[in-house]
Amino acid sequence: MSDTIDRYILMHKDRAVAELNLDSITGVIASVGRVYEPLHVPVGIPVKKGRIDRAALNAWWKDRAIPASRMGIRDVLQKLCLSDTQLLPEKCLGLSLSDQYWICPADQKLSWREVNFFENTISQDMGNILFGKGTGSDQISFMSPDNTSDGWLKKKWVVRDGKRYLVKSGSGAFCQEPYNEVLAGRICGRLNIPHVPYDLWKDPESADGCPYSVCEDFITPDTELISAWRIVQTAKKPNHISWYRHYMECCGRLGIPGIKEAVDRMLVLDYLIMNEDRHLNNFGVIRNADTLEYQGAAPVYDSGTSLWFDTPTGLVRAGRKTGSKPFKSSHEEQIKLVTDFEWISFSALAGIWEEFREIVGDSLYIDRERCDVLCDALRDRCGMLEDIAVSAKKTVFVDSTEFDLKENIAYSGNTEDEE
Ligand SMILES: Nc1ncnc2c1ncn2[C@@H]1O[C@H](COP(=O)(O)OP(=O)(O)OP(=O)(O)O)[C@@H](O)[C@H]1O
Ligand SMILES: [Mg+2]
Repeated sequence: MSDTIDRYILMHKDRAVAELNLDSITGVIASVGRVYEPLHVPVGIPVKKGRIDRAALNAWWKDRAIPASRMGIRDVLQKLCLSDTQLLPEKCLGLSLSDQYWICPADQKLSWREVNFFENTISQDMGNILFGKGTGSDQISFMSPDNTSDGWLKKKWVVRDGKRYLVKSGSGAFCQEPYNEVLAGRICGRLNIPHVPYDLWKDPESADGCPYSVCEDFITPDTELISAWRIVQTAKKPNHISWYRHYMECCGRLGIPGIKEAVDRMLVLDYLIMNEDRHLNNFGVIRNADTLEYQGAAPVYDSGTSLWFDTPTGLVRAGRKTGSKPFKSSHEEQIKLVTDFEWISFSALAGIWEEFREIVGDSLYIDRERCDVLCDALRDRCGMLEDIAVSAKKTVFVDSTEFDLKENIAYSGNTEDEE
């Protein structure tokens, strides 16, 4: 075998799933060998006649790497003398804090217990480099889930009192995403929508007052997050079927409970906060990694790209046309997919806009004027949702592909120029 090929076993906790060979020059899966546990192959990757579709497995493996669109990644790669983020997952055995897949060198007998990041030490080296800090040593340890983290915002995992937390930045001149994450959690709390709560954090070593959001890992050593993107890969979408219906049908076939209710709630939240980036990797379901039993929808996470986060203050208003995801290209069309509004307590939402003012506090990035405009626009969105809920009682909506999103890709900002 060529000396640029590294032999691995794809593992799911302690289950050997399949043999695979990685090209160490490109980080690409060069070939896939025997499949030991077809049921444990990552969701949405076809296994036909005992063989894994290599292109599909490579797409899955590529999604495990930091996206090329990540803010500031060019500088990071330069510092590490690496050509591509695709080379990073191999350096941490492909381990993450969002699921239980990893790769074990074929000539080593490693157990999940001794390598997983839920229970073992996480190196801070990569997180420090991603946050533009030094590591204090020439010897970099890559054993960190930061090498397998998705998303375009700067982020790192940290451990406090034994718990794992994701620290995530904002972007642009307003750095608004962390405040939005906190607000989204508060709205969900008031409406009893299962969600990941986010807090604000500021780096005490930095004078720039830059806000970060912090949330706890909602995955445990027993569970895993499977994105909607993976779920929709489990069947080919017929052209005449909408993305919404396709997702519902895929979840139905997999026997995942409570999806209609969960999607209704997520779409209502996204309508209220004008979320622009609920792409198919920004929601999903939770599965038990041992039994493969689906538990239901994942709690709502990653709602920061919302509330006119990059719109100049003078242009912010509740009725401004803004794109939406994941099902329809406009919020006006997407909210029509919600058929039940009875669960919404509009009185519980009263004054939530004032709570946003309290969350923003004395931010150096969102001034008084912008805060006032955002609060007013959020109040107006609550009113608009209430009007929709009232008129929905009188009309019957029939879904079609007419306003479907053509391409489900993540927002990536104007990252390199933004820094
Ligand atoms: N609390 C959490 N627990 C476990 N996994 C998480 C958690 N939060 C995020 N993730 C995982 O990390 C990924 C990146 O996080 P997140 O979506 O918040 O980042 P982002 O940069 O805002 O993404 P995007 O590019 O979609 O804006 C998520 O898609 C999800 O797989
Ligand atoms: Mg995301």
